[in-house]
Amino acid sequence: MLTKTSPEIGGMGHPIKRKEDLRFIQGKGNYIDDVQLPGMVYGQMVRSPYAHARITAIRTEEAKKLPGVLAVITGEDLAKANLAWMPTLFHDKQMVLATGKVLFQSQEVAFVVAEDRYTAADAAELVEVDYEELPVLVDPHKAQDADAPILRDDREEKSNLIFHWEVGDRAATEQQMKSAPVTALVKAFFPRCHPAPLETCGCVIDFNSATGKLTAWITSQAPHAHRTVFALVAGLPEQNIRVISPDIGGGFGNKVPVYPGYVCAAVAALTIGRPVKWIETRSENLQSTGFARDYHMEAELAADKDGRVSALRVKTLADHGAFNAAAQPTKFPAGLFSICTGSYDFSQAFCEVDGVYTNKAPGGIAYRCSFRVTEAAYLIERAMDVLAQELKLDPAELRRRNFIPPEKFPYPSPLGWNYDSGNYQGALDLALEKIGYNELRKEQAEKRKRGELMGIGISSFTEIVGAGPSHTFDILGLKMFDSAELRVHPTGKAIMRMGTKSQGQGHETTYAQIVAQELGIPAADVAIEEGDTDTAPYGLGTYASRSTPTSGAAAALAARKVREKARKIAAHLLEVSEEDLEWEPGKFSVKGAPGKSKTIQEIAFAAYTNFPQGMEPGLEAVHYYDPPNLTFPFGTYIAVVDIDKGTGEVKIRRFVAVDDCGNIINPMIVEGQVHGGLTEGLAIAFMQEISYDESGNVQGGTFMDYLVPTAVETPSWETGNTCTPSPHHPFGAKGVGESPNVGSPAAFVNAVVDALSHLGVKHIDMPLSPWKIWQILKEKGVTQ
Ligand code: CDP
Repeated sequence: MLTKTSPEIGGMGHPIKRKEDLRFIQGKGNYIDDVQLPGMVYGQMVRSPYAHARITAIRTEEAKKLPGVLAVITGEDLAKANLAWMPTLFHDKQMVLATGKVLFQSQEVAFVVAEDRYTAADAAELVEVDYEELPVLVDPHKAQDADAPILRDDREEKSNLIFHWEVGDRAATEQQMKSAPVTALVKAFFPRCHPAPLETCGCVIDFNSATGKLTAWITSQAPHAHRTVFALVAGLPEQNIRVISPDIGGGFGNKVPVYPGYVCAAVAALTIGRPVKWIETRSENLQSTGFARDYHMEAELAADKDGRVSALRVKTLADHGAFNAAAQPTKFPAGLFSICTGSYDFSQAFCEVDGVYTNKAPGGIAYRCSFRVTEAAYLIERAMDVLAQELKLDPAELRRRNFIPPEKFPYPSPLGWNYDSGNYQGALDLALEKIGYNELRKEQAEKRKRGELMGIGISSFTEIVGAGPSHTFDILGLKMFDSAELRVHPTGKAIMRMGTKSQGQGHETTYAQIVAQELGIPAADVAIEEGDTDTAPYGLGTYASRSTPTSGAAAALAARKVREKARKIAAHLLEVSEEDLEWEPGKFSVKGAPGKSKTIQEIAFAAYTNFPQGMEPGLEAVHYYDPPNLTFPFGTYIAVVDIDKGTGEVKIRRFVAVDDCGNIINPMIVEGQVHGGLTEGLAIAFMQEISYDESGNVQGGTFMDYLVPTAVETPSWETGNTCTPSPHHPFGAKGVGESPNVGSPAAFVNAVVDALSHLGVKHIDMPLSPWKIWQILKEKGVTQ
């Protein structure tokens, strides 16, 4: 149990308003586009209209003649500096500017630099590129056909297969499949979608030729990793590179990769000798930066007649686009997709994934998701409903029969994970109670008799977040751990610098609450600084809900180091031995003499003015935290929907989300995280898809086609929590930021399929647009 601090201290569990919002709501944030430097110029990309074409000529003369244009950089120019290609985050390489041929529509072909952004945009129109069209590969199922065009002729392997990956026991799983009395198969496509953060990607790069220092303000979720990539790719000394990630208007995985625009802006700044700003338009962001998902999945469950599942077999085709730019740890080509056994205790499982190239934008990023967990959670939660339908069993009851029971934790999964803690039945029970499940089922039966369409969808998902541990996890060889550096000033106020970077998650508030909990210094007195590689200790950044499990832990452990030093100083001040002291948040007291005490503020002052002889002055500590395991948050979400028979429109009547992220730092922030993630899940389930026509033209490259939910479409979310602390995390917390995005798509789809199940509907692929539903209703004779 955590000691509850007073509201004045504001440690763990206090719903403190976000400190950072003061500047955000007053328009005083400092985003990339707010960065203005003297003499700054602007970059603009020239992009390919074709999905697959040979470049036969690029003529830049007309563009260069336009007054105000300073440079036009092409792939050939970059090739001279060996910068035409760069590494992706997953051991592939990617063209910075196209040389030879283009591989997807909107690919970067040239970079124009001008005095202002309008001139740059006009000049980009004047760059003439001659293309010779090549056959286009859009369907990943055809990528390995004998007559498929080979897209990546830069690679030695003349194949569109990027990887084949498998995990689990194939033979034992197949054996179970053959002998099981019941099997259920679902083929589910998780469409290509995009995080579409409010702020697009961009940078300002400044090179000071006198000091040799390159300062890069980048919309970066991983500033230190980006600094190292810059150093390795450009050959610049790392101490001369400073990456500053200012306020970020949403990342969701979109701002993890290094994009060609950053490299081109850096090259331009070095060659022109003036700071260069490059910021994407909305369409550029949607069409060319890291997409998510695009998994064609098949899951088969083997069960007995009572619905006890013995095995799961999964086969997946992953469309990675033109370059494998998945932000994934080296050992996991399909990310953490092998969490696909979910919350269930199956004795056998086998999972295989083929990754292929197609003529689409590169990516495979973890969109508010721990490296492919969303796909896995969606698949297993859909498969459980298909099995329930097959067995004519209530989906809640089927889940209950198969949950990993609490006493089995830590639980080794058949696909190799060691779940830290869980109580899945607890979360399901609370969600069922909150929504009034039994009543709703009765209502549904009555409505069905009247021909009305109502559905209830359950998703009891499990997550896996907080990468490292470093022995298993790395990005491009950089081990995954995280860090905190805490410095307490003489007056007892403090600053803590972190290796992560908030993009709206409220870190400035929640990290301060961790220090408040551990040291009793009020959260209001603790400044948090992230995103400046010149000041923060090395860290791997914020994505995949890793901040609380890793940096949060580092913060607590740095604070505990400070507390240990504070104990020594307190003993000196109170003239007792350290063993005679007891701690409560904010002060050390002499055991048995509570009046004899020193506050943390008094101790901090003494650390600079009256410390024991021989002790190092000052009160600070740094901690690099390498987690022993990941954390496994979970929850149950339930959606209730009504479908309009005439239009196919789905109305979300209610949505209950019960989450368990262990001990909560700030309940208000957690609730906000859940609201935001559910709204994204809603969009994915019903509105969003980036698809391509047969020529590789991107559909969904603007907000006219790629829809963003507004308050009109968004229901009022009902939230709740159970609390199952992580046993290995210093204060028992697990991540939460991505849970709602991971868990909700299955709840929505399960609800819609449930509403139509009596018509024989077993599965519908997202997005569940009114048009798609209406077509099904027409086919089933429900509507004309
Ligand atoms: O890595 P990221 O910040 O995106 O995800 P997270 O670690 O799940 O945290 C999201 C926000 O929720 C942060 O401000 C956390 O401090 C907060 N949180 C919390 O208050 N309690 C938890 N147990 C987990 C997260």
